[in-house]
Amino acid sequence: MRLVIFCTLLFVLSVITFTRGHKIPFPKDFVFGTATAAYQIEGAAKEDGRGPSIWDEFSHTPGKTFQGATGDVACDHYHRLEEDVKLMVDMGIKYYRMSISWSRLLPNGTIDNINQRGIDHYNKEIDILVKNGIKPFVTLYHWDLPLNLHKKYGGWLNKDASMKHFGDYADLCFKSFGDRVKNWITFNEAWCSSVLGYLNGVHAPGRCTNCKPEQGDSIKEPYLAAHSIILSHAVAVETYKKRYQQSQGGFIGMTMNSDWGEPLTDKPEDQDASERMMEFQLGWFADPIFKGDYPPVMRRQAGSLLPTFTYSEKQLLLRAKSDFFGLNHYSTAYVSARSSVSNDNDYFAHMNVSTTHEKDGKPIGVMADSPWLYVVPWGARRIVNWVYNRYRIKIYVTENGCDVPNEDKLPFDQAINDTFRVSYLHGYLNAISEAIQQDNVPVAGYFVWSFMDNYEWADGYAKRFGIHYVDYAKNNTRTAKASAKWYAELIKQ
Ligand code: NOJ
Repeated sequence: MRLVIFCTLLFVLSVITFTRGHKIPFPKDFVFGTATAAYQIEGAAKEDGRGPSIWDEFSHTPGKTFQGATGDVACDHYHRLEEDVKLMVDMGIKYYRMSISWSRLLPNGTIDNINQRGIDHYNKEIDILVKNGIKPFVTLYHWDLPLNLHKKYGGWLNKDASMKHFGDYADLCFKSFGDRVKNWITFNEAWCSSVLGYLNGVHAPGRCTNCKPEQGDSIKEPYLAAHSIILSHAVAVETYKKRYQQSQGGFIGMTMNSDWGEPLTDKPEDQDASERMMEFQLGWFADPIFKGDYPPVMRRQAGSLLPTFTYSEKQLLLRAKSDFFGLNHYSTAYVSARSSVSNDNDYFAHMNVSTTHEKDGKPIGVMADSPWLYVVPWGARRIVNWVYNRYRIKIYVTENGCDVPNEDKLPFDQAINDTFRVSYLHGYLNAISEAIQQDNVPVAGYFVWSFMDNYEWADGYAKRFGIHYVDYAKNNTRTAKASAKWYAELIKQ
């Protein structure tokens, strides 16, 4: 009898501890962090000499963002560095992924005009973090290209200008901040910059092949933009390796994004379709970076629309070895071979797959607030396995998180009790832990998106991804949600 009572007690206790987040096994040196991006949180769009970026222009163009929302004020993080870092300290956070606004340092994007006040600002921010025992992971480009580079040189469509100006900007960042920043991410989600910015135009600079052919937008544009980004990444990596890595002792890589594509059936054509989707999404960037060229399937399907790397560019790619793979992952979809090939001749037609979130009438997982985001923790385990099998490199999950159904419409008390998000994070972290423990995938760290609610690009402030609630109507007051408390407990373990 005693034994039964003892066992029952033990079971109840372990369930409580587990759901409170204490029992997900991770290696001792695992990096637990949270992430944000400059334009989404800083505000102060015109202060201290900051120049405009493509997102300032895009968000101020009527009809481009939900309710015309802009990042002019955002979460006002620019003026609240101490307050926000204090919230991180309260949680026991030791790693913070942030981005630098290129046009704060170089208002025109070019090195001939350095804005010292921009440098001072990030020095201040990095100092506050370091003083509080928080190590910054710094993204150089989280979508906010200086507007002048777009207007004057054609932005990412201009390969040579991109390589030169991004290279100069990266060099300035390594030189100014590299004594304290030991982890650099060159680009965030280059897929989004290329496809959402240059194919369907829902992100800045809003180039849309399908909707505005009269503007001369071409089906080549996403491929050209991606090509420039990949080579600009390589220039930055080479600069870091040659001039800074040895003396500063840091690491550098790129962040790529993808859903996991689960084959809808076990038919070979659906298996192929799933593989093809991963290659078009991650391989597009990761194959050149880690192997020196585009995936063969992209060359076959896109033909001459896909640019080619010259001999010396290939040499550059092979020399500029990234130290890690940054992966942003949120959701999973079922993938199958497309039965009828459409007449379009663009990136999606070349990928040639169908995706769905349903199989036999059953959803793949619960839908979050954003219609593209389904809660499918097991997809996280599969995608990190796919990445490691193909590239054999250390992985950081540089973003993962969710918005909560209707959170923006919930009363404050309910919004901060975000059990939906707690269970999402719990499920995904558990899946990543399994990948590490059981599949031996070297995932070295994980960053929750996001530290606080913020400007969700074209969706404005309607989607909330934060583990801190930001009350935009009440002077941007921050409040820790249940998920922040849960994550703090997990970190403590
Ligand atoms: C990816 C992007 O990097 C980030 O800026 C965005 O807010 C989140 N995903 C959520 O959509």
